[in-house]
Amino acid sequence: MSDKRWKLVAATMKKNNYNPRALIEVLHVVQDSFGYIDYDAMAYVARELKVPFSKVYGVVTFYHGFMSKPAGEHTLVLCTGTACYVKGNDQITDWLKERFGLDPNQTTPDNKLSFMAARCVGACGLAPVMILDGQIVGKLSVEEMKAKIEEWLSDDNNQ
Ligand code: FES
Repeated sequence: MSDKRWKLVAATMKKNNYNPRALIEVLHVVQDSFGYIDYDAMAYVARELKVPFSKVYGVVTFYHGFMSKPAGEHTLVLCTGTACYVKGNDQITDWLKERFGLDPNQTTPDNKLSFMAARCVGACGLAPVMILDGQIVGKLSVEEMKAKIEEWLSDDNNQ
């Protein structure tokens, strides 16, 4: 939460005395600051304003002005839950940074790839897990995962 964008979000909630009625205003600040409102952000706002997560989720998905995911053409969600972490997903996080300059919740400048980190996607039996454009990929070695990501991204260039 040291990111100054979060400070802006927190300040907006504080200014409104954490009134649940400020929900839309707060979500606009998240959207404007980050470009989208992911699950973690929804959970954070829900907790702080004491409104049910389902309500926040409903608002985000209902209003066209809000986006629940980044704008990249492709989305890679990497599970960073314990089962996946111990099987090497931390190395994939490092590699994504090195290879594409991406930290979690960032998109490449050409908008080709968005990288999101998730806590546990509920498929621990397949650890280490990543989700490539909605497709779960699991049970690969670190090297195989890297190769799979490269292949997935290069498929586009061949079409
Ligand atoms: S920890 Fe990765 S799927 Fe559960």
